[in-house]
Amino acid sequence: MKVRKAVIPVAGLGTRFLPASKAIPKEMLTIVDRPTIQYIVEEVVASGIEQIIFITSSGKSAIENHFDYDFALDHALTDKGKTRLAEEMNHISNLIDVVSVRQKKPMGLGHAIWMARDVVGNEPFAVLLGDDLVLSEQPCLKQMTNLFNEVQESVVAIQRVPAEETYQYGIVEGTPTSTRVHKIERMVEKPAPGTTRSDMAIIGRYILQPDIFDILGKTTPGHGGEIQLTDALLALANKRGMYAYEFEGTRFDAGDKMGYLKAIIAFALRHPDVCENFSDHIKEVAKTL
Ligand code: G1P
Repeated sequence: MKVRKAVIPVAGLGTRFLPASKAIPKEMLTIVDRPTIQYIVEEVVASGIEQIIFITSSGKSAIENHFDYDFALDHALTDKGKTRLAEEMNHISNLIDVVSVRQKKPMGLGHAIWMARDVVGNEPFAVLLGDDLVLSEQPCLKQMTNLFNEVQESVVAIQRVPAEETYQYGIVEGTPTSTRVHKIERMVEKPAPGTTRSDMAIIGRYILQPDIFDILGKTTPGHGGEIQLTDALLALANKRGMYAYEFEGTRFDAGDKMGYLKAIIAFALRHPDVCENFSDHIKEVAKTL
């Protein structure tokens, strides 16, 4: 079965980015000339997905507005003869069909995904976390749908991390089945240092079989007192199998100050409008350090 829908949880408070995220959602913070969430949506679109389900909370309406048609802006730009800009704005709203579901209380990532059950229904779907941006030749999610089409079981994207960082991630253990692919045997959310020998960290890209919803409905709070997606994933892996996929590309944790700054530099160096001047500027700055 083809993956047609993607769930993007955007209900989080964004405390790591206060005060910037006090009045605007952290997903709307800019990287060069577009909000971080637009990069995620563009990855979804480039992976052939037809519908996005945002799991939102109060204060996040800017995200919905960003992907909506803005009648007043369209007319103001057109009247001023700025037709190219108007077309660009309309392009954003034409990118994809968007549905929003409100998560009334923050109860964890697992609970946020469970909120999408009625809109997703009984078909495989993708999950993308807004903090994780991936720069790659082929979109990360497209690489994953290619694997999913082969194995027809759930797939999580992973990257290798140093042992001292494993406690920050969901960690998977498994056995390799082919290049970049591992059959998952065990997974644990944010393991205490020294409790896993695996360095395979889940990043915010998943393709899941819909069985996950029943499992999530029965999952009790885990790490941090929250309903953890990783706990439900382990139950799903035990039930019908799951694969970990080492994607090709570079991932940035744009939910962290350093990761966000690194993402700005990486994306700016690839942006046709600014790459040359920006690269010269960085070289100049480096000389002064
Ligand atoms: C979430 C997941 C974790 C995953 C991480 C990737 O954690 O719970 O399993 O490794 O995203 O970014 P968070 O970073 O939201 O604490």
